[in-house]
Amino acid sequence: IALPADIFGAERKNSKGLNMNILSEAQPFFAAIDKFNDTQWQAGPLVDGKTLTGDINTVVSPYDTKQTVGQVVFADQQAIEQALASASHAFPSWARTPVETRASALQKLADLLEENREELIALCTREAGKSIQDGIDEVREAVDFCRYYAVQAKKLMGQPELLPGPTGELNELFLQGRGVFVCISPWNFPLAIFLGQVSAALAAGNTVVAKPAEQTSLIGYRAVQLAHQAGIPVEVLQYLPGTGATVGSAITADERIGGVCFTGSTGTAKLINRTLANRDGAIIPLIAETGGQNAMVVDSTSQPEQVVNDVVSSSFTSAGQRCSALRVLFLQEDIADRVIEVMQGAMEQLAIGHPGKVQTDVGPVIDATAKANLNAHIDHIKQVGKLIKQIQLPAGTEDGHFVAPIAVEIDSIKVLEKEHFGPILHVIRYKAADLSKVIDEINSTGFGLTLGIHSRNEGHALNLADKVNVGNVYINRNQIGAVVGVQPFGGQGLSGTGPKAGGPHYLTRFVTEKTRTNNI
Ligand code: SER
Repeated sequence: IALPADIFGAERKNSKGLNMNILSEAQPFFAAIDKFNDTQWQAGPLVDGKTLTGDINTVVSPYDTKQTVGQVVFADQQAIEQALASASHAFPSWARTPVETRASALQKLADLLEENREELIALCTREAGKSIQDGIDEVREAVDFCRYYAVQAKKLMGQPELLPGPTGELNELFLQGRGVFVCISPWNFPLAIFLGQVSAALAAGNTVVAKPAEQTSLIGYRAVQLAHQAGIPVEVLQYLPGTGATVGSAITADERIGGVCFTGSTGTAKLINRTLANRDGAIIPLIAETGGQNAMVVDSTSQPEQVVNDVVSSSFTSAGQRCSALRVLFLQEDIADRVIEVMQGAMEQLAIGHPGKVQTDVGPVIDATAKANLNAHIDHIKQVGKLIKQIQLPAGTEDGHFVAPIAVEIDSIKVLEKEHFGPILHVIRYKAADLSKVIDEINSTGFGLTLGIHSRNEGHALNLADKVNVGNVYINRNQIGAVVGVQPFGGQGLSGTGPKAGGPHYLTRFVTEKTRTNNI
């Protein structure tokens, strides 16, 4: 496939990875992460640059609840009020700060993230239970978001767009920040999505009140500290850790806010929509990226080993806790037995355990509630379906929130009443003649985030890609790990309001537009 030579542009490159197979690179890197094994991080509301005190919550590791990671103070009503008042007051001046200044602070933040990479990876492992590989990818994605939106903001907002008009009249279109943007992010990408939302809002000229998922407040706090160090003024970026019920509901109900960016469950996105509709004040947008019931469709022209490789990484890495993760695998019946046999073997090879160990493939899920809900679904689905394989949890995982990876054959996607956000794969066989029913079944869920396709028949693959209503389609590869500027990410329907994070149109959702017609 021929691409224009300048497709990646001169202004920006994505951050580089690390080859863990090169011992001389991997060893010092692991040693640098190990230095943070005993660190206890402290966090609290960061309002106007000051860390507020209050009731202390102890943070423990998902892989071993006997290990503490640090302490966090959640924001109270006074912190919420001060953060909103200051962010609101700071908006006019931040919106008029030259876009180049805003962009260079974000570039500086990207540099600081890279300089502090080992600490941030240690935090991702210890607070969020992420594997080292996921931690590396997390920091890279956060860096890429900051740099991408810095460049995009300059492109979109550097100059007004000139429009045609009668002689002597100057018509110009300006993009401007909307006001205080509330950014509410999830625990599964505690640095990348947190900073993705925040950097987009800031680049576009908004001030920000950021609420992290309460499970990953320490990571968010470090990110905000680095942002302030990079030159984002303290009034412009306010940090309010806490629960959705206290902090989330208060900040989304406030009249002073100009927009909300949210990643999390579909139910919470709908709740925010109702809150925004019922409050006094302007009509403001919600940018939501929510759940999925992601499918992969595999036809009989596919290569079973390649399919299994991609199925296993899409379903079980990150313990299945990605919005993009594969939940329902459709196998054409001619190839199904062979794929299932290879998959059983591949699942046996999965290493489950401490996420900080290089050999670990599957770490813990985030907390006790997630574990209980996933295990309840596993008990249910084993009754309804036919077990393909369940991996036994190894010794040493008893004190963590581990869920045994499982694959189960079921008859229809309709038995899944909702998304199950963990290492659980459902498999459905289909006949070639019934492909249109498969398409209808996937579309009937109402979700539309990712779709995987395995086929060597291009016409067939492109037809599926066209007919299934999703935001991201992946043909003959896994369906996770969207890269900034390469696979802009976001879904449709119950999966979100559509804007693509890491895509060229994302920032346009964070701005308001003004046309100036000038006859002076
Ligand atoms: N952006 C992530 C991915 O593509 C979403 O969970 O995997």
